[in-house]
Amino acid sequence: MNLHKEINKRKTFAIISHPDAGKTTLTEKLLLYSGAIHIAGAVKSNKIKKTATSDFMEIEKQRGISVATSVLSFNYKGHIINLLDTPGHKDFAEDTYRTLTAVDSVILVIDSVKGVEEQTKKLMEVCRLRNYPVIIFINKMDREGKSPIELLDELEKNLDINVRPLSWPVGMGSSFKGVYNIYKNTFNFFKSNKTQIEDEIKIFKGLDDPEIDEAIGPDAGILREEIELVDSIYDNFNMEDYLSGILAPVFFGSAVNNFGIKELLETFVEIAPKPLARETTNGQIEPHNEKFSGFVFKIHANLDPRHRDRIAFFRVCSGKFERNKFYHHVRLGRDIKFPNPANFMAQDKSIVEDAFPGDVIGLYDSGIFKIGDTLTEGDSFMYKGIPRFSPEHFCEIINTDPFKSKQLEKGLMQLTDEGLAQLFIQNPGNRKVIGVVGPLQFDVIKYRLLNEFGASCNFSPIDAYKAVWIKYKKIEDIKDLTDLRSHNLYTDKNNNMVFIPNTKYILQLAKDKSPEAQFLMSVEHNDQTLDMEAS
Ligand code: G4P
Repeated sequence: MNLHKEINKRKTFAIISHPDAGKTTLTEKLLLYSGAIHIAGAVKSNKIKKTATSDFMEIEKQRGISVATSVLSFNYKGHIINLLDTPGHKDFAEDTYRTLTAVDSVILVIDSVKGVEEQTKKLMEVCRLRNYPVIIFINKMDREGKSPIELLDELEKNLDINVRPLSWPVGMGSSFKGVYNIYKNTFNFFKSNKTQIEDEIKIFKGLDDPEIDEAIGPDAGILREEIELVDSIYDNFNMEDYLSGILAPVFFGSAVNNFGIKELLETFVEIAPKPLARETTNGQIEPHNEKFSGFVFKIHANLDPRHRDRIAFFRVCSGKFERNKFYHHVRLGRDIKFPNPANFMAQDKSIVEDAFPGDVIGLYDSGIFKIGDTLTEGDSFMYKGIPRFSPEHFCEIINTDPFKSKQLEKGLMQLTDEGLAQLFIQNPGNRKVIGVVGPLQFDVIKYRLLNEFGASCNFSPIDAYKAVWIKYKKIEDIKDLTDLRSHNLYTDKNNNMVFIPNTKYILQLAKDKSPEAQFLMSVEHNDQTLDMEAS
């Protein structure tokens, strides 16, 4: 059957890492191997350099670049691979979490010198929540880093996942000789070469093969000892454990030197899952369900301020999407067709006629989409699992141009639809508060309000610990909040009650006084609650 065949061809994944570990470099090298691009340097980093934290033009430039590289689709040995890019900067972490809802597996890049870093831990927590299969690539083996055993220990301890090295490095830094593939008994000789793409690989009969001594010299003895140790510490690689997110295979390499990339890519296409079933308000929907459905996980504004349209990034989850066919927009209860859906083959956006589960398409959006919106072939379920977390920084919005209140209102609505920030309106009261994950987003919002909507405003920081969503059965359950803490009560854009306490202590007091109510640190975009209690 055609649909099955199309599904089986596809792999949709993201590369995640702490900034600077080598995500951009690895992305580029994967594209080089697949033949999707031919020259190095074609993929620009979409990270915002540390020096440019308040350089608006830089933010705009970066935004432009990240539209172009948000999704990269390429073919490799009969597979269609959709690689979803995630912003490296931690202030845009929420964008990354949302993008992760649209993939089926991830490759995690670790810097061999730095080991597991802060952002790595946070990203992995999100992957663990969803049990994504993870492949780990330990990068920068050409530098003097931590010992491989130390790195593996660190991964297991900090990331709550079992690991299994599938290859093993010989030496590191200036004495790095290459990598032995434990399962295939091959040795990949390291060459510091930024332009070559073919590895020099030698096949052996097994670890006892005397030709290994000839090939790598005195290090052969150490290699045998270390692999024996690895085999005794780590269980054999087990596909089922990998697919359920319990066990991560580990590879060593050097992205900038094109080293170890081929091995990684070949293993990826061999073991990474095809498009998976996803949870909806109506139970799980399988990709081979004949009826088309999917959801919006990201919205990007047009860079040209004269054009208000935006691109909604849409993950196809079941059935077949066809251009110009009417689909049901569940939240709006309307049927809509899309004459110009875009795909992202090797960076050139072009119109697609059809798309299959696992694919990501760009839908031109005149303001009809919010993150989490579902399209179906008539059914009215919604996809679940797109999180909205409590922001970390809060500011009251002060309108500085009373003649432009309408523009400000409109701008705030649009930017919050995109998920750039969350808007909370005091209730009772009318104070408008914007909450963001990282302070850099305040700069972006201010700049975009002025440039795209002609609205100017100031942000006045408020004393706030977190935004906590309140769920309750009877209004008496939250009497303490409504009677004594009403000045800390707000509503979000979907009219949910939100409590914004000044301190953690006040949050605890309020929780103690309202034991029947739920205090939640995150909700879903379509308002399904997630099980993350506020603390
Ligand atoms: P990111 O997207 O994860 O933030 O990292 P990116 O690929 O931009 O890589 C960060 C830096 O690490 C870059 O250097 C890159 O060249 C370097 N790098 C990537 N892979 C390797 C590797 O295998 N070995 C070594 N030694 N370095 C590696 P940069 O100086 O920040 O930028 P550039 O001027 O080299 O582009």
